[in-house]
Amino acid sequence: MSELLGLFNEVAPLEPITDLVDILAWITNGKSREIKFKLFDDVSMVYELQLAKMEFSRWSENLDSFRCRTAYFEEVAGEKSWHFYLSSIVGKGQIGHSNQYLTHWFYPYKGKFHGQMIKALLNFMAVTEQSTVLDPFVGSGTTIVECATIGVLSVGVEINPALCFVSLVKHQALSIDFPKFRQVLHRLPLSKIFQRFTQQLEKPKPLELPSMPFDGESLSQAIWEQIFPDIVNDLPFEYRNLLLLVFLHALSDYTYLKDTGKARPLEVFWQENLTEYFRTIEGVHRVREMLSINFAPARIFCADALTLPLPGNSVEGIVTSPPYSIALDYVRNDEHLLKYFGLNADSLRRRMIGLKGQGKQRLVMYEQDMRQSLLEMVRVLKPYGWVAIILGDVVVGEQRTDFCQRILQWAPELGFDQAIALRRPILGGYARLRFEYILLLRKGGNEDGAKC
Ligand SMILES: C[S@@+](CC[C@H](N)C(=O)[O-])C[C@H]1O[C@@H](n2cnc3c(N)ncnc32)[C@H](O)[C@@H]1O
Repeated sequence: MSELLGLFNEVAPLEPITDLVDILAWITNGKSREIKFKLFDDVSMVYELQLAKMEFSRWSENLDSFRCRTAYFEEVAGEKSWHFYLSSIVGKGQIGHSNQYLTHWFYPYKGKFHGQMIKALLNFMAVTEQSTVLDPFVGSGTTIVECATIGVLSVGVEINPALCFVSLVKHQALSIDFPKFRQVLHRLPLSKIFQRFTQQLEKPKPLELPSMPFDGESLSQAIWEQIFPDIVNDLPFEYRNLLLLVFLHALSDYTYLKDTGKARPLEVFWQENLTEYFRTIEGVHRVREMLSINFAPARIFCADALTLPLPGNSVEGIVTSPPYSIALDYVRNDEHLLKYFGLNADSLRRRMIGLKGQGKQRLVMYEQDMRQSLLEMVRVLKPYGWVAIILGDVVVGEQRTDFCQRILQWAPELGFDQAIALRRPILGGYARLRFEYILLLRKGGNEDGAKC
């Protein structure tokens, strides 16, 4: 101790430091010296500061709109932002203001991206109520939920029907009128509904689906007509779908925790999740009323990103995260869902990007598919529209794949005329993934897009 004190005694007297970088002034181009802005306290990573600057640059002339849209600012011109209120609807596993708020936490899908980051990218693209945004690999629906909060129409495409259902319900749940829903709930035989959902688990009745593409509404109708024609058939689809999603969430918790110290009966997870889901629906309703938000509609398609079910030049922006090469087996992760609906996991696997082929052939096929999916994105994007691609660098065997670099190399010949790349470190978690890259590519003025 006395040695330490000795060290301190040797420190030179402190001089005030005057030339530190004023980050907020850098982000706001000096505006923060006259107008009060505040970033959320947990905005600290370099890519977050970059995105905060990028979103601000597009909306700095319209601070009222910016307050409703911003992802990284807690206060704009001295008033709390909408994101402050939206992210206060706390969900399971939420970290700060970045993820799991609103309905984002519904269903524990592994590999979903952070809503806050997606909102900032949409802001950078300057998409408005007149725009449509596409996510061709929508997974569990993060993009369509974020689009809804800023009034932007969206289209989500996903090859896995079970995930189409998850996306559909997470978006539908945003607009549920909680007081009406609560009245219905009082008369619902919840334990009977649980038993009926459990019967499907024990003896799955296979879902027969039309050939792709088909939309989310047709999917939900097929589920209720074919599998559960006998229960809650007087309820609106969004209520029934929500109940089924609670069950699927419970099923996932049960499946993943069954051999751990946290294992519990399925019914306990169901009851716990029911309470938590209803709390979220109530919170969303309250904030929606307080801010008078109209969440924008979304369309979901169960379809292949390699042949998008959309006409050319039909969307203003694309935000997406394609499968990360062979980093994650997206089928295995949610196999319990496929089984539940009696869907064939192997035939899905044969159509999924990143899972086709064996050994070295798999990477070759991945590269071909990535290129084809980019060609499709260019086709459906309007000239001067932006694509944001979030992709990780992954080790396959001994080799670190660098598909982000490859995409940047392809960009000019695919018809893009501008590119921006940001890097986001992945802390802890998946050791084979060190960084995620956010690639922003702008389609040039040529309507036909690709030059190849
Ligand atoms: C990285 S995940 C997307 C996660 C999403 N961003 C979210 O927040 O939930 C990639 C998704 O691409 C889907 N996918 C794989 N091949 C596909 C294809 N050919 N067409 C459409 N979707 C596909 C997978 O099922 C997976 O859900």
